[in-house]
Amino acid sequence: MSTREEILFELGITPRWKLRDVAEIESSEETSSSEDLHKGAISSNASGDWSELKTTIESCDRCKLCESRKKVVVGVGDPAANWLFIGEGPGAEEDERGEPFVGRAGQLLDNMLLAMRLNRRENVYIANVVKCRPPGNRNPEPDEVDACSSFLDQQIDLIAPQVIVLLGKVAAHRVIGGDGTLASYRGVEHRYKNISTVVTYHPAYLLRNQLDKAKAWKDLCFAMDLMDKKIEQRK
Ligand code: URA
Repeated sequence: MSTREEILFELGITPRWKLRDVAEIESSEETSSSEDLHKGAISSNASGDWSELKTTIESCDRCKLCESRKKVVVGVGDPAANWLFIGEGPGAEEDERGEPFVGRAGQLLDNMLLAMRLNRRENVYIANVVKCRPPGNRNPEPDEVDACSSFLDQQIDLIAPQVIVLLGKVAAHRVIGGDGTLASYRGVEHRYKNISTVVTYHPAYLLRNQLDKAKAWKDLCFAMDLMDKKIEQRK
């Protein structure tokens, strides 16, 4: 089995489910057309003061999560990325290592990115709604989300991504607003600060609900189509 097949298998995508033809994706390895579409084809003007923001976040004591955290998890990736993925908050492994999505859910996220011909260090930035681990892996509480809110907003402003992918309900509620079910946010283009925004399942949920991986792939294909349209518009 090829690596790509393994990735698609991992995502739970059967041949019937291919919104993007694998043959088409593979042939694009030679032509690099797909790669151009999703890797740096739109340049961002992220030049703002990342180091100042990083220092501020790392020394934050705005909420009670600072008392139990080991490491602040600011984010990882390309600060001028076209793609921004936003999760919920660090878990135990992220808290140890200071990097988002490094546990089992992170491995799945990496495979999802690979299936999109992306990786966490190139043209992708990964951030969380809250930067410190909620104890016991509970959801962040509203005051914790609020305390971190300006940090996420500043990250979005600095990155100026073309497409935001929200992973799970906590991210959807924080960025889009409301308190609906995840299903109620999926399948449509949202706008945040005029940036195209798509909602999909959190990778940790997908680990427990493998059958929904195909739906997640549909969401990611939708997000890739939005990115393609943006690139087309700029030609
Ligand atoms: N889950 C998240 O939402 N973020 C992480 O960084 C890790 C797990």
